[in-house]
Amino acid sequence: MQAQQWRQQLKQQRQALSSDERNHAGLQVAKRLQALAEFQQAQLIASYASFGGELPTCAIHQQLGAAQRLALPVLHPVVAKHLLFLEITDATVWQQNRYGINEPELRCDRVVPLTQLQIMLVPLVGFGPNGQRLGMGGGYYDRTLSGNLSAWQRGELPRLLTIGLGYDFQYCEGLVQQPWDVPLQLVVTPSKVWDFSR
Ligand SMILES: Nc1ncnc2c1ncn2[C@@H]1O[C@H](COP(=O)(O)OP(=O)(O)OP(=O)(O)O)[C@@H](O)[C@H]1O
Ligand SMILES: [Mg+2]
Repeated sequence: MQAQQWRQQLKQQRQALSSDERNHAGLQVAKRLQALAEFQQAQLIASYASFGGELPTCAIHQQLGAAQRLALPVLHPVVAKHLLFLEITDATVWQQNRYGINEPELRCDRVVPLTQLQIMLVPLVGFGPNGQRLGMGGGYYDRTLSGNLSAWQRGELPRLLTIGLGYDFQYCEGLVQQPWDVPLQLVVTPSKVWDFSR
């Protein structure tokens, strides 16, 4: 099957969940994530404001430790099809971007460089056996991560752990890896933690 067909089918499956099922899955994923030592130790965490049928992140955001700071993406105001991460505070003003997704209002003093993040939680439409990710099809995460990729791989930058969050049914064995894919290191679903990092 082509990526576009997978995307359509998996989005329908995601959409068909009730809000109870979605929230229950969100709580199970939050529990598994919070049990990971790397998550517990992370001080600056990038995440996403769940939209459409995406796995809810509200429980994760509400239960962050006192020393943990949260950053969420906005569509990059300068570099097309890239994301920029902004730190969230009690003073954050919210708005909707052109896709109807909630994002913090752009403030230069809230920008968090990618190199300062320890963890990035990424929404999924699907994921494959090498940690390859199927997103909404804009290529935003691939582009955003691609610039620093070789420096991360060579260990020249502090490690950024990319973790996809989703439902178990989003695993697709036959998902083709595209040359521009930046694979995820971990995926957390209600039933398990999938480790693609080795
Ligand atoms: N680093 C990159 N440089 C140039 N083009 C890219 C890059 N990454 C992705 N693209 C292009 O973006 C398009 C969409 O990518 P893809 O299908 O992987 O989206 P996606 O990862 O599912 O979307 P998203 O991350 O926005 O949820 C592809 O046609 C691809 O050519
Ligand atoms: Mg992609």
